[in-house]
Amino acid sequence: MYYLIFILLFIDKLVSISGTKEVLNLPAGAECAYGKYNGTCTEYYACFAIYGDYRDKDYAAMPNCNLDGDSPVVCCPDCEVVDNIRTAEYFDDIGIRYKKGTMAHDKCIEYLSALYKHKTGPRDPVNHSNWKEKVKCVSDIAKIPRPTLAGGRNAKRDDHPHMALLGYGADLESVEWSCGGSVISEKFVLTAAHCVSESRFGNVTYVAVGILKRSDPSEVWQHHKVKRIIPYPEYNSSFVYHDIALLEIEGEFNFSKTVQPACLDTDDMISTREVEAIGWGELGHRKGLADTLQVVNLEEFSTEECVDQYPRGERNRLINGFDDVIQMCYGSHNDSKDTCKGDSGGPLQRLINKHHQYEVIGVTSSGSKCGIKGGAGLYTRVEPYIKWIEDIVWPLVIDPDALKFFDNL
Ligand SMILES: *[C@@H]1O[C@H](CO)[C@@H](O)[C@H](O)[C@H]1NC(C)=O
Ligand SMILES: *[C@@H]1O[C@H](CO)[C@@H](O)[C@H](O)[C@H]1NC(C)=O
Ligand SMILES: *[C@@H]1O[C@H](CO)[C@@H](O)[C@H](O)[C@H]1NC(C)=O
Ligand SMILES: *[C@@H]1O[C@H](CO)[C@@H](O)[C@H](O)[C@H]1NC(C)=O
Ligand SMILES: *[C@@H]1O[C@H](CO)[C@@H](O)[C@H](O)[C@H]1NC(C)=O
Ligand SMILES: *[C@@H]1O[C@H](CO)[C@@H](O)[C@H](O)[C@H]1NC(C)=O
Repeated sequence: MYYLIFILLFIDKLVSISGTKEVLNLPAGAECAYGKYNGTCTEYYACFAIYGDYRDKDYAAMPNCNLDGDSPVVCCPDCEVVDNIRTAEYFDDIGIRYKKGTMAHDKCIEYLSALYKHKTGPRDPVNHSNWKEKVKCVSDIAKIPRPTLAGGRNAKRDDHPHMALLGYGADLESVEWSCGGSVISEKFVLTAAHCVSESRFGNVTYVAVGILKRSDPSEVWQHHKVKRIIPYPEYNSSFVYHDIALLEIEGEFNFSKTVQPACLDTDDMISTREVEAIGWGELGHRKGLADTLQVVNLEEFSTEECVDQYPRGERNRLINGFDDVIQMCYGSHNDSKDTCKGDSGGPLQRLINKHHQYEVIGVTSSGSKCGIKGGAGLYTRVEPYIKWIEDIVWPLVIDPDALKFFDNL
């Protein structure tokens, strides 16, 4: 069904493009000008402005360059043409992002799109917010979001809608809230494997989202029971390797301003370089737990520095020492910024856009003593586990209707 709709939509577009417009008789690649804007003669499927306006047939003001080939060549007012409009999504603040055919990445684009209301709304090139008067075209080139403030600080309400707090205990009255986690889909939370159970209270039983403070009134808290606990199969609690797990909740998260999924670190998302960690953990070594969610900006430590901080040894459960392939260490060289006890399972993250969407690059795993000047905490690198996560969170479901469609060809 999905394919059918797509094809109909494209036929509809073809008819409207070829039926009503002026033809300039210019070859593909030629410069063209029309009214106030300069364009480039481009196959229509590479012109985002066309896609943005497929419902507005009066946008016929944009002329065709020629109709010689299989698809019309249009005078495209975009400064940069895209590979293919079917794989590109346009965002008002960060420009164009592409789908790549991998679940974690494409789901990220999908979740981002869901937040933008005008992604395919009519685009008037001259009055468009990305109109570049100097070159007289519309520029949707990918933009990197502005970095956040530096320093350890209280988070603001709704700034981290993917942040989850994990609960241990049989019922909500007696539940103990400890580790953190990241909402990554309608049903799944990413956390650390050592967070799936707690020595005194047993297995994780609840996930809470939507809160900023532990002391938030109960109306603000959204609780979900944990339905399935999936630590990474090679995790062994005697060691700190592969410290990553997924929690499946009962029901689904209700996405809103306060609850949103985070993206995973798929090498090609464009985000800030600044990395931060968040959590409701201790405010320092042997200090009390934070009431308000805390944010710290952290610096990346080199492999050599991490090896120094986390030497090989039985006692600290690093029998092979620091493993650069599956671990990262982040901290502050000149300061005592760090994650602490209780922050485990939470995200090490980078901002993707101004709508408070983040990509999770690490899972807070362990530290020696937190908040030591020049110290760094240990994080599980997310990227090597993407395939494992994708297979559980977004299993490939074959749509029988789609198969029927191919049978009939
Ligand atoms: C751009 O906006 C102005 C003011 O809103 C309007 O008068 C003008 O017609 C618009 N230009 C185009 C090309 O639609
Ligand atoms: C835009 O087109 C005009 C002619 O319509 C031309 O003079 C001008 O150089 C072009 N500008 C650019 C940046 O291509
Ligand atoms: C805790 O979860 C594990 C799965 O990770 C399960 O095998 C075990 O039975 C659970 N324990 C309790 C007490 O529910
Ligand atoms: C999510 O929304 C549904 C329908 O509005 C509601 O029944 C359910 O209780 C909500 N779940 C949570 C956890 O708030
Ligand atoms: C975890 O590692 C310890 C020490 O090497 C070993 O004795 C134990 O069998 C391992 N547990 C699992 C579940 O593999
Ligand atoms: C840390 O301090 C050193 C020496 O004072 C300085 O060169 C470096 O720029 C500082 N780093 C940061 C991130 O502030």
